[in-house]
Amino acid sequence: MSNMVLIGAQWGDEGKGKIIDFLVEENDIVVRYQGGNNAGHTVVVGDQKYVLRLIPSGILHPGKICLIGNGVVLDPNALLQEIAYLEKLNVSVKETLRIADNAHVIMPYHQALDQAKEESLGVNKIGTTGKGIGPCYSDKVKRTGIRVHDLCSIDPAALLEKLERNCLDYNKALSEYGIPPLDSRAIFTQTIQFGKQLRPFVVNPVYFLETQRKLKKRILFEGAQGTALDVDFGTYPFVTSSNPSIGGACTGTGIGATRIDTVMGVTKAYATRVGSGPFPSEMDEVTAKIVRRAGNEFGSVTGRSRRCGWLDIVQLKYAAILNGMDSLVMTKVDVLDQFKTIKIVIAYSKDGIKTEEFPSDIAYFKNFQTETEEWPGWQTDTSSVTCFTDLPVNAKKYLNRISELTGLPIKIVSVGAKRSQTFKSHSH
Ligand code: GDP
Ligand code: IMO
Ligand code: MG
Repeated sequence: MSNMVLIGAQWGDEGKGKIIDFLVEENDIVVRYQGGNNAGHTVVVGDQKYVLRLIPSGILHPGKICLIGNGVVLDPNALLQEIAYLEKLNVSVKETLRIADNAHVIMPYHQALDQAKEESLGVNKIGTTGKGIGPCYSDKVKRTGIRVHDLCSIDPAALLEKLERNCLDYNKALSEYGIPPLDSRAIFTQTIQFGKQLRPFVVNPVYFLETQRKLKKRILFEGAQGTALDVDFGTYPFVTSSNPSIGGACTGTGIGATRIDTVMGVTKAYATRVGSGPFPSEMDEVTAKIVRRAGNEFGSVTGRSRRCGWLDIVQLKYAAILNGMDSLVMTKVDVLDQFKTIKIVIAYSKDGIKTEEFPSDIAYFKNFQTETEEWPGWQTDTSSVTCFTDLPVNAKKYLNRISELTGLPIKIVSVGAKRSQTFKSHSH
């Protein structure tokens, strides 16, 4: 028996969805532990592409139970749309989906404020997805949030009271941005409707997971976003509002830390970032364009161009330490196929002082330099390679160097978007 957490090691979009889909065969249950429909997890099976936002990426395997944990902020409208989208593609959701009763719910006022705030920030904006993630998590911490059980409650009057109070507050805030007030009654009616539709899926996550654990089911915890977007450990304030890092797996599901056996980090063979904020290993735009085209680096939620950079060992090691990772998955190795040389950032320096530590204060990234290693590329198509041994020599050298620098084995390698373009490996 072994329960595993799979965490994005970088700024998100590392290919977590694809790897969860690969790993789920050996597991029984997949649990999403944070984030919301800001996430876009892509899985390609045969010629069919699926983009999952809230529903764990295990859903494409019939019979695997998928729980949306309490750490997730849930937009009921987005979830119902996702269920309809999957059903249209003949993916059955109703038997296997579960939702934590204590997950917080994204309301229309959260989205309105997220978008209005971002617009008002102009060039200083965070570049959020505009899905209401930040305001919903703020309400959770402020103790004014609405949770899934409120939608299904036998006491709807209590929900109406909360909504009226929240609308009053939010309408005041929204008026400052020139946004017309939202109608609490209309939100209430819609919310009750959502509650009726969601009720069949709702469980208490603590007892649900304990029951499964006692049945010796193997549980896979799926992170969204990535460690560098973590609200505590990321490039604050250019982060999301939750903990994609390891702590989120416990607080976002109700599993005890001692029940987690392994932690795997997913990294691309390079790096990307969507939205604003420091990106220490960012490439020049000419090189970035090549990577963006080869790796199709456009956001699956917003369609925005992803910024591209070289693999940043300082950042990756920091992620490995703080998450207690015991292995890595490396995705998108094929995207580097055409490069003559490949860089790795191994240290930063500022005012003549070198460091291998990732700073908490992003002010560091003004007028700093990166120290890089340059490795020969393999200039060979890797997209049909099916084992580590068959990788080109220089690709093996590159992967082994990453293992050496991070001190972690790379246990899974991905050389294409398809489910079939994935293999277990034995680097290091
Ligand atoms: P996630 O948010 O971490 O699940 O990642 P996304 O799905 O947002 O972004 C990863 C993108 O890369 C998706 O379009 C995947 O289909 C694609 N992808 C995943 N692994 C590979 C790979 O090894 N090679 C290539 N070329 N594409 C990949
Ligand atoms: P997956 O799970 C990449 C980024 C946004 C923005 C910041 C805050 O697909 O890896 P938010 O809407 O969360 O308040 O935005 O976080 N961001 C992501 N970037 N992948 C994601 O998810 C992301 N989810 C949020 O671009 O910079
Ligand atoms: Mg994504």
